Amino acid sequence: MATSDNGKHSCFRKFFIDELKDILWAEQHLAEALPKLADASTSRQLKAAFEKHTRETEQQIETLEKVFELLEERPQAKKCEAMAGLIREANDIISQTDTDTYTRDAGLILAGQKVEHYEIATYGTLRIFALHMDEEKVAKLLTEILDNEKATDVALTKVAENHRVNAMAVAE
Ligand SMILES: [Fe+2]
Repeated sequence: MATSDNGKHSCFRKFFIDELKDILWAEQHLAEALPKLADASTSRQLKAAFEKHTRETEQQIETLEKVFELLEERPQAKKCEAMAGLIREANDIISQTDTDTYTRDAGLILAGQKVEHYEIATYGTLRIFALHMDEEKVAKLLTEILDNEKATDVALTKVAENHRVNAMAVAE
């Protein structure tokens, strides 16, 4: 039930904080997984894209920590089953494809885009939640992360199309 202190202890706020803990876990584990995806990549453009996003993900973790600070909450991560599954899928793609093949790259781009779309959905919703709670600074930080995830998704599409990863995979 809502309380009189501007919803500081409302169920919705608690739910919002829990979802932030979930995405914090997701980012922390993605930051560990991305270098493995970079190492497994065949094309240097894909490798570079995963390396770039590793650095960006580390930055996103710092931004999320700022979000917790603004909300006066501890940045405590909580296991995100969705991200755990997406990372497992990416690892499966590596084990199911041969080293130095574009088929592997095509699979890694698929895995990467699934991750980005999951994150886009999450941050897109969480920023709206923040706005509804009049947490404008929090919403701004979440929007920054959202924009970065969208740019990463576009970058992965470019690797697939402009650098002909899919075309090379079909020709293998
Ligand atoms: Fe992210």
